[in-house]
Amino acid sequence: MKWHVLRPLWVAIGIVASILIARMFFVPDDFGVHGESFTYGYYRLSNVQEWRDFPIKYQGREYCIECHEENVQALNSSPHVNIECENCHGPGAGHPDDVEHLPLNTSRELCLRCHADLDYPNGGRTLVPSIDNRRHGRRRDCVQCHYPHDPREDVE
Ligand code: HEC
Ligand code: HEC
Ligand code: HEC
Ligand code: HEC
Repeated sequence: MKWHVLRPLWVAIGIVASILIARMFFVPDDFGVHGESFTYGYYRLSNVQEWRDFPIKYQGREYCIECHEENVQALNSSPHVNIECENCHGPGAGHPDDVEHLPLNTSRELCLRCHADLDYPNGGRTLVPSIDNRRHGRRRDCVQCHYPHDPREDVE
């Protein structure tokens, strides 16, 4: 073969070889085919343990019941039954030991996430009852009139 053909060929071979050598150093030992199928079994084995050790932030209301039984009972028998406590109070990890108080967010924005009138063509009717933010209970926090754990109840 002519030199002008061979030269780029050597360069190409050199590039492939250096990639293969670099791979030996950079790809972790436990990366490979684990399990039966190549499609789903191609991963780094230690990654499984890393996800098992990943700290969970959200606890669910079964965790809260031990100390806030009244709140859990109110919520469970209210129209808000499907909303988790931590949806409004943030993740409960480390509470109460490390984080003594979870946030009490009394802003209108907290409720408007779900109750804002979105002005749909069908007159704003959705499964979640919506209110007009500019008119309904203006300039007051929602929780001044509605009890968040059971919004059917008025607040005196
Ligand atoms: C082991 C008991 C315990 C558990 C479980 C627990 N809490 Fe608490 N919580 C406390 C204590 C103690 C306080 C601080 C004292 C107080 O103000 O009642 C507190 C405070 C709070 C506050 C602030 C109240 C305030 O007046 O500032 C919120 C909100 C709260 N907890 C929500 C939750 C939620 C949601 C869960 C479940 C994810 C939960 N807690 C689980 C014991 C607990
Ligand atoms: C829809 C949002 C929402 C949900 C869901 C919710 N909370 Fe609250 N919670 C609030 C708001 C807002 C306040 C503050 C009310 C106020 O200051 O008038 C509050 C107050 C509290 C307080 C302090 C006052 C009190 O009533 O004792 C505790 C404790 C608490 N929540 C625990 C819980 C627990 C436990 C759950 C789940 C069973 C829960 N919350 C679910 C919005 C919510
Ligand atoms: C995560 C979404 C969500 C958030 C946040 C939320 N709500 Fe609701 N709320 C709902 C849903 C869903 C319903 C209706 C459930 C049904 O009718 O079955 C509802 C129902 C209501 C109702 C009507 C109760 C009745 O009489 O039937 C009121 C009032 C209400 N919420 C007030 C509030 C207030 C005040 C807040 C803030 C503290 C709030 N909501 C936060 C989802 C939410
Ligand atoms: C001044 C007191 C007051 C304030 C503040 C207030 N509301 Fe109300 N809300 C009421 C009253 C009274 C009703 C029931 C009468 C009615 O249906 O209009 C009601 C009804 C509702 C309903 C049920 C509507 C329906 O179609 O069934 C929702 C949802 C609601 N409010 C959410 C909110 C949210 C979210 C906020 C804060 C952004 C808020 N409210 C602020 C007094 C208030």
